[in-house]
Amino acid sequence: MSKTNIILTGFMGTGKSTLGRLLAVKLGYRFVDTDQLIEAQIGQSIAELFAQQGEAAFRRLEAELVEDLAQKSRLVIATGGGLVLNPDNVTTLARTGLIFCLTALPQEILERISCQQQIRPLLQDPDPLARIKELLEKRGPSYRQFPQISTSGVDLEQLLAELLQRIGLDV
Ligand code: S3P
Repeated sequence: MSKTNIILTGFMGTGKSTLGRLLAVKLGYRFVDTDQLIEAQIGQSIAELFAQQGEAAFRRLEAELVEDLAQKSRLVIATGGGLVLNPDNVTTLARTGLIFCLTALPQEILERISCQQQIRPLLQDPDPLARIKELLEKRGPSYRQFPQISTSGVDLEQLLAELLQRIGLDV
């Protein structure tokens, strides 16, 4: 399998899906979002799945999906923010493509997700900003293993250009 997939990971609200869609159009690749694929598969929202079966059940579905996606090529994959916390997922995805980690400042993450906070079970907290900072701190070592692309204060066109340059393509 040649390494043709492009995988965008990073914390919630860092723009993985937004940038991933644009990138896919630019490259003529198919765009997939792991959360959306899981929701379609189970016929439930991620929030419902967390509430009814717990986070571990969700993580198992993520790992199964990774195995499935790793059989495919020419994909832009936006991962759920916690998918790369499982090293097996990283090993499998890294065999199929390049992985980049999008980053953003905690305050900006909060602003971006505030209208959709209820769909993110891990941020159901009376103090979401503190929760974001705590999770970022805890997840730092996992996220930092990938090339970082900061999305704070950068517009989408600039981001896309930077990503294409990092991939080694100036489309
Ligand atoms: C999660 C991020 C979410 C979703 C789930 C868990 C996480 O995806 O997979 O709520 O652990 O960071 P987004 O990063 O697309 O919001």
